[in-house]
Amino acid sequence: MISIKQINEKDIDLCFELDSHTISLWSKKQWANEFKKEGTKIFGLLISNIVIGLCVFQVILDEGQINYFVVNKKFRKKGFGSYLMSYLIKKCEKLNLKKILLEVSQGNVIAEKFYSRFDFSTVGVRKNYYKDGSHALLKEKKLTTK
Ligand SMILES: CC(C)(COP(=O)(O)OP(=O)(O)OC[C@H]1O[C@@H](n2cnc3c(N)ncnc32)[C@H](O)[C@@H]1OP(=O)(O)O)[C@@H](O)C(=O)NCCC(=O)NCCS
Repeated sequence: MISIKQINEKDIDLCFELDSHTISLWSKKQWANEFKKEGTKIFGLLISNIVIGLCVFQVILDEGQINYFVVNKKFRKKGFGSYLMSYLIKKCEKLNLKKILLEVSQGNVIAEKFYSRFDFSTVGVRKNYYKDGSHALLKEKKLTTK
């Protein structure tokens, strides 16, 4: 059974472990900082109580920012990423946010395809943004508030 739940700081090891096995973006200290950031919520996508996806989401004024988004390698291409993204978009609409922003590495073709599917468009480039010198594409999805 699929479910989404908010992850608390006591589950920091779980976040660090999933990250280590996927994109290795943050150290444990960096994860701890994410939990402390104002307006930040961390959501886990679970199958039968096992976390297979993670998203770090921050609200800044009337914008939502996705600071981290990953699905466990074994569970990719099965619609789980889309499930988590659809949940986030609905959440942002309920909060009456105007747009969702995120950054993605220019070479990450799969993520680019994934985000295009949800109508994110490129609105800027941050040069040499990542440790390896690659550029980040700044993506934005405009939301229609009801
Ligand atoms: C990007 C990511 C979250 C997608 O998760 P997922 O669960 O595999 O995505 P879905 O199964 O819901 O796929 C939705 C769409 O994304 C695109 N997509 C996903 N995987 C793809 C692949 N391997 N090749 C091409 N397109 C792909 C397709 O358009 C797909 O739609 P389709 O199945 O109808 O073709 C996952 O690949 C991931 O965790 N990647 C590493 C982390 C990352 O790059 N995060 C984003 C930047 S921070």
